[in-house]
Amino acid sequence: MAFDHRKYVAFKPVAKTDRRWPDKVIEKAPTWCAVDLRDGNQALVKPMTVAQKQRMFDLLVKLGFKEIEIGFPAASQPDFDFCRKLIEENRIPEDVKIQVLTQARPELIERTYEALAGARKAIVHVYNSTSTVQREQVFGLDRDGIREIAVSGAKVVRDMAARHPETEWTFQYSPESFTGTELDFAAEVIDAVSDVWRPDQGQPMIINLPATVEMATPNVFADQIEWICDNIKRREHISISVHTHNDRGCAVAAAELAVMAGADRVEGTLMGNGERTGNMDLVTMAMNLYSQGIDPTLDLSGMAAISEVVEACTEISTHPRHPYAGELVFTAFSGSHQDAIRKCLARRKEGEAWNVAYLPIDPFDVGRRYEEVVRINSQSGKGGVAYVLERDYNISLPRWLQIEFSKVVQREAETNGGEIDSLTIHRLFEDRYLKVHADWVLRSYDLHRDEEGVRAEVSVGSESAPVRLEGRGLGAVEAVSEALESRFGISIAVEAYDEFALGEGTNANALACIRLTANGKHCSAAALAEDTTSATLQALFSAVAQAVGTEMPESAREAEVAGA
Ligand code: KIV
Ligand code: ZN
Repeated sequence: MAFDHRKYVAFKPVAKTDRRWPDKVIEKAPTWCAVDLRDGNQALVKPMTVAQKQRMFDLLVKLGFKEIEIGFPAASQPDFDFCRKLIEENRIPEDVKIQVLTQARPELIERTYEALAGARKAIVHVYNSTSTVQREQVFGLDRDGIREIAVSGAKVVRDMAARHPETEWTFQYSPESFTGTELDFAAEVIDAVSDVWRPDQGQPMIINLPATVEMATPNVFADQIEWICDNIKRREHISISVHTHNDRGCAVAAAELAVMAGADRVEGTLMGNGERTGNMDLVTMAMNLYSQGIDPTLDLSGMAAISEVVEACTEISTHPRHPYAGELVFTAFSGSHQDAIRKCLARRKEGEAWNVAYLPIDPFDVGRRYEEVVRINSQSGKGGVAYVLERDYNISLPRWLQIEFSKVVQREAETNGGEIDSLTIHRLFEDRYLKVHADWVLRSYDLHRDEEGVRAEVSVGSESAPVRLEGRGLGAVEAVSEALESRFGISIAVEAYDEFALGEGTNANALACIRLTANGKHCSAAALAEDTTSATLQALFSAVAQAVGTEMPESAREAEVAGA
């Protein structure tokens, strides 16, 4: 059988008894380094063109990245040329450090310095693989041999930099495949490199610990980071960086726990593009911090524009459910979610801490509109439908009509199988409730109040031949119902009616909704009018029309003509 878990061996956890990181809380953003133009680019089916690289670089600068890995110039001519272009065309802001990757091989390091000639500030990032599998199966070298590669590389990096004092150099070393490296050996190599670079004597130095392959749960990675922080020499002079990949889907979590465990710096890419399942997603991690009230030091407010540039440069589309950036991540289709969001948003006061059910952050902060929050499909309920009518058309429905109308919308959604937009919802509402038939148009009304209640005189029907009705009741609705019964023999029992004054932006001033039984038939209707009484009486006629027919009973019209 091919699918056999016994083929795999569980990752051995770190034997640690002094674990402190679980009690730590992240209180500030780490130093970020964007590696979209190197690691991200190496993973693309079609590596970026110079124009795409420039666009990505400009975006990263605009977002606030101060450290940007721009390529692997010794291994790729386009990367070399791009590096030269940035330097020669003076396209690197003064406060931004470019970083370039190189293997720990003298000729490659030399070529790397050629690429960097004239740079104001630069990070030379040198790496070699240190894991057991790489030592034993790829390089056929023992620990000493691997350490020697790192040390001799570090020496070339140091010596080449000394020849170019005009540049402000930072040295970075990565024990590549760190997660598969014995911790004591990783520390041994790191110490050997820092013996060469001497960060304690002023040379800025970064140790980047990559989960080149994510091999265990994020807590194990955090243990590894804490162990290294505790066991390397010159820790206080070294910036500890992490570079997590997403093989198990936990790259962000691993980086977050690593920061709790002592990491100062985090490498990643926008939207997590990168080798295999990707690099750590900078957008997600930064926004996670933001959602905890921590300044991410990056400006991610234009999320749609960020996503557009990333898509244009990587030719990979953003998943609609991508945290914070996906098209659907702030949208609720489910009825109960919509209801909760609607209530929270309605109660929310400007300046209050964000506390809205189902929305971890305010979508507005990343350039999203509240219109996108509630979208309607067959899963949606009364709350969502009511919210859309209220939000887009200023129409508030009573609860009983919300329930009734949401079924109309749901039926439509089930028939069409997809989303129902706001325009369609409004059209459905108009068709189902607001239709006024020519024979049942309220033309005028006159209400006389006395001690016995209301006497109503109304004129209804076509403009040329309206029918006059007269009735009595405790209120206008009862009086007109009585008139309809005495004139047409329609027995009416009103079950509910509600009137609303409408806000600005509508032609009508009032909306009335009514539910009744006419001649034993349940009907509901609504009407918009200039005043609440007109709206209520029109709603009554429209509901009655549903029960007895859209045409006025002939007998009524004949009687009217005869009486005229
Ligand atoms: O994933 C990795 O190990 C790398 C290194 C070169 C840092 O990209
Ligand atoms: Zn990587």
